[in-house]
Amino acid sequence: MKHPMERRRLSARVLALCTLAVMPALARSASEAGESRPARLIVEQVCAACHGNTGQSTQKAYPSLAGQNEDYLFKQLRQFKAGASEPALRKDATMAAVVQSMSETELREVARYFSRQAPARGHAALPHLVGAGMAIYWKGNPSNHLPACVTCHRPNGEGIAPDFPRIAGQQPEYVARQLHAWKSGTRGGPGKLMSLLVPLMTDEEILAVAQYVAQLR
Ligand code: HEC
Ligand code: HEC
Repeated sequence: MKHPMERRRLSARVLALCTLAVMPALARSASEAGESRPARLIVEQVCAACHGNTGQSTQKAYPSLAGQNEDYLFKQLRQFKAGASEPALRKDATMAAVVQSMSETELREVARYFSRQAPARGHAALPHLVGAGMAIYWKGNPSNHLPACVTCHRPNGEGIAPDFPRIAGQQPEYVARQLHAWKSGTRGGPGKLMSLLVPLMTDEEILAVAQYVAQLR
């Protein structure tokens, strides 16, 4: 007998895998028709399994997309796509498979679709770290010149469109994973703001600030 949590996680994974399996079929029907599929259809049939119909993530590893800036979402979708001779700037096997068969128009349309939804709500997975995270968010770390997150992501975490994304209410596990990706150099090209500042952070600071960000609204 499996623990209910484990069973739920398993069924979400199965669902996600099934979604990936139907995608080539979806892509075929689109190219045969020679036109873009409506964003709502793509979201319901492909994205919803992981990002939810309302843009509220269904699993802690998947980001919420609701209310995120349209240009930022579009830019990220393109970064999951590898070019003819250049590797993808963001490396994720799942998202690479998702965007592979989508046209630029479809990427733009789904970005717009999610951007118009009401922002997702989240909560800290480790509430006892919210206080420590708050200090980093508002003050950074003066001892090593780590800048405060609030400067670019705003007091309520809504970001500054189009370049600084909304991070309020995001899944804490996803936030921590992205920060680690910048620390280890697997996200974004050189010279990006986040890849300059995240290496100044300790693993403890990353974990704590992710909890603070998650409960912002
Ligand atoms: C099987 C699960 C799954 C499906 C289906 C899926 N995604 Fe994702 N998505 C992910 C994961 C996992 C990540 C985080 C990748 C990473 O760590 O970089 C992600 C990240 C993203 C991001 C980056 C968000 C950010 O805040 O930077 C966007 C945008 C996105 N997905 C859009 C979509 C769209 C649009 C669809 C449907 C066309 C879709 N995804 C389908 C799992 C999925
Ligand atoms: C100087 C401005 C600046 C500061 C300060 C800053 N950020 Fe960012 N942040 C950015 C930019 C720009 C991006 C978008 C990068 C991209 O386009 O891939 C970003 C992206 C992010 C993301 C990814 C969001 C997603 O949906 O994938 C997270 C998480 C994040 N920042 C957290 C933080 C935290 C935590 C701090 C404080 C330690 C911080 N940022 C400080 C500019 C900043």
